[in-house]
Amino acid sequence: MYNSKISGLGFYVPDNVVTNEDLSKIMDTSDEWIQERTGIKQRHWIKEGSNETSATMGARAAEIAIERAGLDKDDIDFIIFATLSPDFYFPGCGVQIQEMLEMRTIGALDIRNQCSGFVYALSTGDQFIKTGMYKNILVIGSEYHSNGLDKTTRGRGVSVIFGDGAGACVLSRTEDNQKGILSSHLHSEGKYADKLIVESPSIKHWVPEILNSKEEDLSYFPYMDGTFVFKNAVVRFSEVIMEALSVNKIGPDDIDLFIPHQANLRISQFIQQKFKLRDDQVYNNITNYGNTTAASIVIALTEAWEKGKVKEDDIVLLAAFGSGFTWGSVLLRW
Ligand code: ACO
Repeated sequence: MYNSKISGLGFYVPDNVVTNEDLSKIMDTSDEWIQERTGIKQRHWIKEGSNETSATMGARAAEIAIERAGLDKDDIDFIIFATLSPDFYFPGCGVQIQEMLEMRTIGALDIRNQCSGFVYALSTGDQFIKTGMYKNILVIGSEYHSNGLDKTTRGRGVSVIFGDGAGACVLSRTEDNQKGILSSHLHSEGKYADKLIVESPSIKHWVPEILNSKEEDLSYFPYMDGTFVFKNAVVRFSEVIMEALSVNKIGPDDIDLFIPHQANLRISQFIQQKFKLRDDQVYNNITNYGNTTAASIVIALTEAWEKGKVKEDDIVLLAAFGSGFTWGSVLLRW
């Protein structure tokens, strides 16, 4: 069996920065409330009228990752694309990337696991590499949230949190079984699907309904029971981290870098305190990007790597929790 390691990383966010101050001009909110509850100061939102989408941002991030891996697009054997905000109901963004980057007729798979999307995508790619089926897999997380948010006071509990952006990595085969992905764990609990959901459009709420929909039909906007999600997030994050540590027979001190999904700075700080991790063991960037869902971990990992915070042989722990509920972890040796 082979191992898989990350051989290239890249990220892309749209130029347009939206500050908390900007939001307070269009809804009843404040910089103070947003920072105190979430740690977010600004996010990037695709400008209205732009042609950017989850697929186009993903393609930009992917080009950087492939180049940094020292590969050519023809070396990529498979594409995995994680998003909750695809350009189309179908087909998925994976095939769009293939066309945008003019790649061969390789397979492309879309993953719909929201905030855990990147962890699910990495774990899926790892299985294909372990079995020897593929050598280089392009793994992308990308979200275009801003066009789907309720940007009025009614939607403020959700819309202030989310940002647009994309991250990508190339997962490559290595014969060094001490390096790369050492473990991954995936979980879900569908009974809480309705606690964080966008109900429409769906096969249930199909075309005639969309055409006749009244303005007060909120099923097109994300709904979140924030407090309930928060309480479950801190429990599940802790469990999945314990699981990764115990399977790999290591302790919190052995983690060189922990990158949690950037859902809320308060959740990350709670986990940091619980596992007694020092500041230099944790990387957060939600302050500048908001919650970019499937893109958040790979954007943070790329940024940390660019800053020299991820070094050869480092133990890196990635963990996520989100809608579904779904949660999971990936532990790697760099
Ligand atoms: N500005 C000002 N006031 C606001 C805002 C806002 N943007 N949003 C809500 N409020 C008000 C509410 O109306 C409420 O007012 P009331 O007390 O008069 O009724 C008050 O602030 C408190 O609201 P809560 O929703 O209880 O606030 P809470 O402290 O729970 O913070 C938050 C909300 C930040 C959303 C938090 O619950 C959270 O981060 N939850 C977890 C998010 C998460 O982890 N999501 C998972 C990943 S996302 C994914 O998978 C797609």
